[in-house]
Amino acid sequence: MQLHVIDHPLVAHKLTVLRNVNTDSPTFRRLADELVTLLAYEATRGVRVESHEIMTPVSRTTGVRLSSPKPLVVPILRAGLGMLDGMTRLIPTAEVGFLGMIRDEETLQASTYANRLPEDLSGRQVFLLDPMLATGGTLAAAITFAFDRGATDVIAICLLAAPEGVAAVERRFGPEAPVTIVVAGMDERLNDHGYIVPGLGDAGDRLYGVV
Ligand code: URA
Repeated sequence: MQLHVIDHPLVAHKLTVLRNVNTDSPTFRRLADELVTLLAYEATRGVRVESHEIMTPVSRTTGVRLSSPKPLVVPILRAGLGMLDGMTRLIPTAEVGFLGMIRDEETLQASTYANRLPEDLSGRQVFLLDPMLATGGTLAAAITFAFDRGATDVIAICLLAAPEGVAAVERRFGPEAPVTIVVAGMDERLNDHGYIVPGLGDAGDRLYGVV
């Protein structure tokens, strides 16, 4: 498993505004969208391409195009939905699947309540979108879903992570697994309710204005 914590002043600036309790939902949504596009640039560094010959107005040349099967982008509902536009802006020909997962606030266990993913993900790179990597339970379940269907590698894009969640995912899949986590910020810890500290609160509520 690989972890990339993006070290960039624009990412840090946008993340700070996102964390602020006084940031309203429309601003939060816009910033989350912009942040994901910045993270997606790093997350797609290993996207598979194939050589492609074209004519410029001047001569023939060889470039690249995305290989088939196309990457699959999977927002984890509900909060991952707020990351979808930022991702598909950068990689518009990717296909999109959906995974609905909910965390029991008592036990902190994740369970699946909706699944619109192709049965066969053989040979595919899967990009999971989940803003908060907290206990790691939701992300680990989503990664298992993708591998069980044949995905070759999984790249998770998160806004914030807690060390406990990263460690849980690494324990579950091992250091050599084809799993990459790209995150805008690594926070201190989880609190007793499984919230990331200092964090940004409930990402779904902040995106969609439910308190
Ligand atoms: N989910 C959230 O939305 N926020 C957290 O801090 C942890 C999990």
